[in-house]
Amino acid sequence: MEQQLILDDALIAKYDQSGPRYTSYPTAVQFHEEFTADDYAGIARSTNASGRPLSLYFHIPFCDTICFYCACNKVATKDRSKGDEYLQRLYREIALQGELFDRDRPVEQLHWGGGTPTFISHAEMRELMRVTGEHFQLLPDDQGEYSIEIDPREATAETVAVLREIGFNRMSLGVQDFDPRVQKAVNRIQSEEETLAVLNAARAEGFRSVSIDLIYGLPHQTRESFENTLERIIEVGPDRLSVFNYAHLPQIFKPQRRIQADELPPPETKLEILHMTAAKLAEAGYVYIGMDHFAKPDDELAVAQREGTLYRNFQGYSTHANCDLVGMGITSIGSVGNCYAQNLKGLDDYYKAIDAEQLPVFRGIRLSRDDELRREVITRLICNFSLDFSAVEKQWNIDFQEYFGPELARLSGMADDGLLEISGQNIQVLPVGRMLIRNICMVFDAYLKDSKGQRFSRVI
Ligand SMILES: C[S@@+](CC[C@H](N)C(=O)[O-])C[C@H]1O[C@@H](n2cnc3c(N)ncnc32)[C@H](O)[C@@H]1O
Ligand code: SF4
Repeated sequence: MEQQLILDDALIAKYDQSGPRYTSYPTAVQFHEEFTADDYAGIARSTNASGRPLSLYFHIPFCDTICFYCACNKVATKDRSKGDEYLQRLYREIALQGELFDRDRPVEQLHWGGGTPTFISHAEMRELMRVTGEHFQLLPDDQGEYSIEIDPREATAETVAVLREIGFNRMSLGVQDFDPRVQKAVNRIQSEEETLAVLNAARAEGFRSVSIDLIYGLPHQTRESFENTLERIIEVGPDRLSVFNYAHLPQIFKPQRRIQADELPPPETKLEILHMTAAKLAEAGYVYIGMDHFAKPDDELAVAQREGTLYRNFQGYSTHANCDLVGMGITSIGSVGNCYAQNLKGLDDYYKAIDAEQLPVFRGIRLSRDDELRREVITRLICNFSLDFSAVEKQWNIDFQEYFGPELARLSGMADDGLLEISGQNIQVLPVGRMLIRNICMVFDAYLKDSKGQRFSRVI
């Protein structure tokens, strides 16, 4: 039962509420505009004393067509020249950011996300990596974790070869659902052949890890229809799978207004789909990492979780805990030293800042010591499903039981419900608590009292 997803319907019903996914703590809701680009630059420079490795995130926002469910930061366009306009500014940002960090800090992790990173041409991909290498210390092939999000409709075997050539060794493929009826309802028509062509090319080119994204809770989905998709995915055996819960928040994400609410599966069906998914993936030998992610037991994420070294950032789970994360491109968020900093969200604003040779940071937050301590506690819980008080006490020079007295008292109700066990020295999340890990983390979130719950997605 180690690392399996066990579902308890009554507990899920009891704890099903909106909550953050904790890709950061404090969450982006707490970022504010008093935090400036100069604040960011100062903190970034100060991290050079640590010599810590770097993680680079590049946001490529363009998509040829928009999937109606999409909650990502994207820009719809069929005009490919928009890519060049954007990249010219991104290269400038790479130079501006590169000036802040010592050149000998190795880039252990690199990620292109979107939008659709493969919207740009092969020549532009090569150029983007070349410019990056001019300003940062990229690692020789395969020593780093270099990953990209791929829409199989926007990539060929040749694209995959180019990506491997310029240093990528991990990828995630957006699939969502193979059912034509579902695909039509969400405006994402994608054949199984397109997906398999990219997956097979990735294997042929020696990609170390291939992940597939699915979404449950989309229009017309039933347990049977999703089982069909899942079976076909299991057959091709990706190293990892993300099975996201569709978050229908049409008041926040405009394209979702084109999804008919009455075509969405009811919560009971979503729960059935989740039960089926947990059972099928366990049977196929996948382990549950947490927060929608599954992996083969020998995948590095599963290994890191067993060894207690798993980490979580904006791209999800990772094995690189000790990096400063530099975000580049519109909307991207960096996590550097004791701050988070976010770039401008609109293309025009971003271009204006870059053309004036300014870092395009528009908001962020400098973490207090309490923020950093709570971030550590939340990260350990969400990654490892356990928390050893003494490790935290040693690092932060606190008495855990005293500092977190009110939180431990609140957790005791969850312990009574069987979500976790609390001993004098440790919190251990039990198998039925894993699905509800964000509820457990929310107890340690000092900001939730005054935040608006509807900004976050629900557990189911
Ligand atoms: C930036 S996209 C992936 C790259 C590429 N644009 C694609 O679609 O293949 C990241 C993933 O987020 C997931 N996603 C997007 N909107 C979502 C939503 N509203 N609820 C749940 N998952 C969502 C999808 O699974 C998608 O593959
Ligand atoms: S899911 Fe991917 S391709 Fe579809 S709109 Fe979102 S970012 Fe673009």
